[in-house]
Amino acid sequence: MFESVEPAPPDPIFGLNEAFKEDPNPLKVNLTAGIYLDEKGRTPVFVAVKTAERRIFEEESTKSYLGIPGAADYVAQVQRLALGQDHPALAEGRVTGAHTPGGTGALRVAGDFIRSIQPEATIWLTNPTWVNHGPIFLAAGLEVRSFPYFDRTKHVLSYDEMMTSLLEIGAGDVVVLQGCCHNPSGTDPSAEQWHEIGELLADRGALPLLDTAYQGFGENVEEDAEGQRILSKIVPEILICSSFSKNFGLYNERVGALILVTTSSSAATAALSHIKRCIRANYSNPPAHGSKIVTTVLEDDELRQSWSEELGRMRDRIRTTREQFARGLDERRVHLAPGGNAFITRQKGMFSFSGLSVEQVIELKEKHSVYIVGSGRISIAGMTPGNIDRVCDAIAALG
Ligand SMILES: Cc1ncc(COP(=O)(O)O)c(C=O)c1O
Repeated sequence: MFESVEPAPPDPIFGLNEAFKEDPNPLKVNLTAGIYLDEKGRTPVFVAVKTAERRIFEEESTKSYLGIPGAADYVAQVQRLALGQDHPALAEGRVTGAHTPGGTGALRVAGDFIRSIQPEATIWLTNPTWVNHGPIFLAAGLEVRSFPYFDRTKHVLSYDEMMTSLLEIGAGDVVVLQGCCHNPSGTDPSAEQWHEIGELLADRGALPLLDTAYQGFGENVEEDAEGQRILSKIVPEILICSSFSKNFGLYNERVGALILVTTSSSAATAALSHIKRCIRANYSNPPAHGSKIVTTVLEDDELRQSWSEELGRMRDRIRTTREQFARGLDERRVHLAPGGNAFITRQKGMFSFSGLSVEQVIELKEKHSVYIVGSGRISIAGMTPGNIDRVCDAIAALG
């Protein structure tokens, strides 16, 4: 069966990481993956996470299975983190959810769930979007299309074009937006725009799916949830896919959640029964360790404070690096956009959608061992005081 199988193409991001590892150039720079790195190029374990792990190690008395949707205390905590303590849907018992392996797991379970209850639904993705969105929903057997989101020349949200396209979307279709720090563009709607998007989607009878993988990397944990909190008060039903890979540094623990806001508690119970069937047929039930960490940190005032402050320092480092990068390019008289490099500091989250072309990205890799994904998306956190000049020099030397 396997003799004649041709190798599949490598994943666009993990594949580049492999190439990076094999590159013998000692000055190589990796700006591909959405992973936080500190000034020394390390991805640290949060202090609050280590403390929580010690506590879990001491207190854990069983490794028995969790239920299909995971631990109830975890689900309750992450619903509050996503929606805010005072959200009316929480008080009314209209929210349900499940612990999933990472944000990717949440997206795939969401895809399977949509396919099981609304197989004709089209999934609408922003153009551009995270490279894995298309493959995830296609693998769930859904039709995938895209709508304009970002103006690559002006480096701003294509708001009017987006709203015009959303008018075409059918009732029962699903619109995938990102809660904050849009990957790859770093550009999010304003509060006013979120309101208008909510009203339009409610009017069209479309279901918003908010993918939130960077809560806390934009302004702070609360403000970054503004979009999903606004939408969930305007649109009757909403899906939220949360990832705690980046904001808790739990990349390899695979911690995420699928959260569903519905119109009534009976609708929530019915929806969860379908979500549970999807999970059971996929990975059966989630791994416990990562979710215990998140629950322990969020339930303890001191750990929560420590986590929030450490996340704030990461956000500050990324902001400072954005400023240094923009300045470094200015000093070399390189302008990545017609209006200069100010867009780099305007963008939020881990990425800068630089505007570099595929050819330029290839040249950076081949001639300078500076690795960037083909879309020109730069992972800002990959730049450190030790390599930022090299990156700016390499961009300045482009033909
Ligand atoms: C927009 C977006 N959604 C989801 C994810 C998935 O995160 P996880 O590693 O938790 O599966 C990522 C990770 O890069 C992302 O950028």
